[in-house]
Amino acid sequence: MVIELDKLVDTERGLVNRKIFADPGIYKQELEQVFARSWLFLGHESQIPNPGDFFNTKMGEDPILVTRGKDGKVNAMLNSCRHRGNSVERSDLGNRNNFMCTYHGWTYDLEGKLITVPGFKELYHEELDLENWGLVRVSQLESFHGLIFANWDPEAPGLLEYMGDYAWFLETRVNPQGQGSEVVGGINRWVMDCNWKFATENFIGDGYHAAITHKSATLAGHAVLNNRQGGIDRATSDMTRSMFTTQSSPNTFRLATKYGHGAGLMLRPDGAAVVPADVSDMVADYYRKRSEGMEKHLGKTRERVGGWNAMFPNFSINSSADQIHVWNPSGPLHTECWVYILVDKAASPEVKKALKVSAQRHFGPSGMFEQDDGDNWKLSTIGAKGTIAQRYPLNYQMGINDEVLGATDDLPQRRQGWMGDTNQMNLHRMWAKLMSGKSWADIRRD
Ligand code: FES
Ligand code: FE
Repeated sequence: MVIELDKLVDTERGLVNRKIFADPGIYKQELEQVFARSWLFLGHESQIPNPGDFFNTKMGEDPILVTRGKDGKVNAMLNSCRHRGNSVERSDLGNRNNFMCTYHGWTYDLEGKLITVPGFKELYHEELDLENWGLVRVSQLESFHGLIFANWDPEAPGLLEYMGDYAWFLETRVNPQGQGSEVVGGINRWVMDCNWKFATENFIGDGYHAAITHKSATLAGHAVLNNRQGGIDRATSDMTRSMFTTQSSPNTFRLATKYGHGAGLMLRPDGAAVVPADVSDMVADYYRKRSEGMEKHLGKTRERVGGWNAMFPNFSINSSADQIHVWNPSGPLHTECWVYILVDKAASPEVKKALKVSAQRHFGPSGMFEQDDGDNWKLSTIGAKGTIAQRYPLNYQMGINDEVLGATDDLPQRRQGWMGDTNQMNLHRMWAKLMSGKSWADIRRD
């Protein structure tokens, strides 16, 4: 099938064809051109602290086994036996010396090397080349303050170049005081009836929806511990107006990086409280110390930053509760959502527990905001499927001509205001580049 990408994503006029959210041919090409060539989140190093620890995860639709070897290094490989393709490890996580496939017994070590084949002598006459039949390893594997990312494409830029200015923001969430962070509790996983891109583009720049979509949850009293931006009247019917008027505040801005990542951010205004309202003395004390620790480690500006964001193509960490979202594609009309709760390593066990409980109320299957969002994305996906609907593009024209402000000593290149469709268009521009089959060398030259 020939896909005319320039007709699907029109960055000049701010128009996107609905087909990109529903077409099975486009979806198949996405797995090949986007997910097999981008940096994808695998998990957190705190999930595998000891040699022999492992967890199962996904890259696109491929099952991935992540292990910590005896040498302490992290490995990532396809969880698919080279004999007939069965999984070599069925558990979500655990500790092993090696992985024996339950079909015919081929056995692999923690690095994925094939070490034992039943009948090697009697049936294979010792002619099977064990060296060449190990598990398929990812091409690139890197960590960012404990977050593990991998890429199948050896030509893709390294993780830090790929992140660009997104790393400026991400470090504030994952290494606030220089002591790192850790995942607590299990991973919430469920399937939503929506295309994965509706989720990414919502988190990458759609602050616009919050005042309407999440208004009832907010009016019902839903709040999260970590939401300390201040300046937003979240608890009254004035929320919509107060979110929109902050657009012109110099404290709000949005990032759109060269490889498709983005964020809508706000600096906590001078004089706004560091400690959330109505919290215990223990939690208040934590936030005061965290604020001091962050300022020392990351500087005055980054201590104050927070907001929505996403890293291309399917990763986000919401700063209102430090929950990692990963939207794994599962067909054009379904997304497998994985949500991790991340806490500051410097926090006490009691504070970590309080943060975990607060986060679970926010995002995840039981989360107030998650349910609001998911319902909209499902209906948007239905709205992208129809024959007639596909004749009418979607509108991405908010602020698309807003000028870019150059980087300063303490702020990266950005645009004024935290809302606008520039981040979403930047995401779709990157998507279209990869989908067109352009090499990474060409994309880097662009
Ligand atoms: Fe794994 Fe045969 S499929 S040993
Ligand atoms: Fe939302």
